[in-house]
Amino acid sequence: MIKPHGSDELNALYVADEDQRAALLEEAEGLPSLLLNSAAAANAVMLAAGYFNPLTGYMNLADALSVAENMHTVDGLFWPVPIVNMTSESGIEAGSRIALRDPNAEGSPVLAIMDVEAVESVSEEQIDFMAEKIFRSDDANHPGVATFKSLGRTLLSGPIQVLGFSYFQSDFPETFRTAVEIRAEIAKNGWDKVVAFQTRNPMHRAHEELCRMAMNDLDADGILIHMLLGKLKPGDIPADVRDASIRKMVDVYFPANTVMVTGYGFDMLYAGPREAVLHAVFRQNSGCTHLIVGRDHAGVGDYYGGFDAQTIFDEEVPDDALELEVYKADHTAYSKKLDKVVMMRDVPDHSMEDFVLLSGTKVREMLGEGIAPPPEFSRPEVAQILMDHYKSLDS
Ligand code: ADX
Repeated sequence: MIKPHGSDELNALYVADEDQRAALLEEAEGLPSLLLNSAAAANAVMLAAGYFNPLTGYMNLADALSVAENMHTVDGLFWPVPIVNMTSESGIEAGSRIALRDPNAEGSPVLAIMDVEAVESVSEEQIDFMAEKIFRSDDANHPGVATFKSLGRTLLSGPIQVLGFSYFQSDFPETFRTAVEIRAEIAKNGWDKVVAFQTRNPMHRAHEELCRMAMNDLDADGILIHMLLGKLKPGDIPADVRDASIRKMVDVYFPANTVMVTGYGFDMLYAGPREAVLHAVFRQNSGCTHLIVGRDHAGVGDYYGGFDAQTIFDEEVPDDALELEVYKADHTAYSKKLDKVVMMRDVPDHSMEDFVLLSGTKVREMLGEGIAPPPEFSRPEVAQILMDHYKSLDS
């Protein structure tokens, strides 16, 4: 199986031994504690699950700045996005051991224990620099930039031991998986070539066909539909509804035993190209050989060009940085002429009128009014689940 990023073995930071976990939880009760923000908690969950292998905890300021600037830590590890614990709390000392509390679970239970190696102040200039590099923007209207700038200006770094998976395991027991679990499942299925499909949306016909095209073009053994289960910007479709609609689509339209429907516990960054590279890193850690990157991958508004998340792999990711390969997809849509979903680059004789194209806003409007988008755009079973969701918002 494909090796994890940066090491031979996957190092998940979840403390799997029950007795050890119980002892650490007991110890945590006596430690100074810090209530994490959601971004830092999500980082802990990703570290716990092995997705952020080979990191052993939160980055220090030098690494965060270096990663933001050139996608490498000071020691030369390839890494696309700073993995940080920034807080506005004061009073935590370097050299201390602290309990990290979960802001997203009832009663803020202990999520992890951290050995604080350094406590560093981050200047406004450094925040702006990192935002500009990560998001290609320092516009406070960009949802990712807004979150990043709200995180606090004290950066705590050091290794962590993680004691749980926050709300992800309890809220999505069928869907949440760790990288360790996905690797095990891939091995069990006997799959060799595995394509990952990143998603934070329900899947319409274009997405379904994109998966099928990638499977066929690559002659892959299976596809990992890997959905984001963490926080999104307001108006995006909640994870349980996406999960239900994707499961339905897979059940009805894909052959059995070719698709794994799974999810990971991370908040959306909306960092476009840089987030696409992070997606590639953690799909390699999950044992996938390929990642689909299509149009406006991990984008928001018009902050990124439609294919910036593909060109970054050619222009900024060194050839030997990753073993996983990117499957670059063009804009995909239903062709009225050919009666099937196609990639636009494959049908140069088509004009825009030859495709069934609906904007996200238009689709939301229709679903909200209880009108199913045309079957060329959405499978009726998928449309029904989405319409039920919008209806439940009204009542
Ligand atoms: S993302 O933020 O998780 O990337 P989304 O769930 O909308 O958002 O997209 C999942 C994947 O499908 C991404 O790789 C994206 O680029 C790709 N994609 C979505 N719609 C299209 C489309 N019409 N044509 C080509 N690729 C698409």
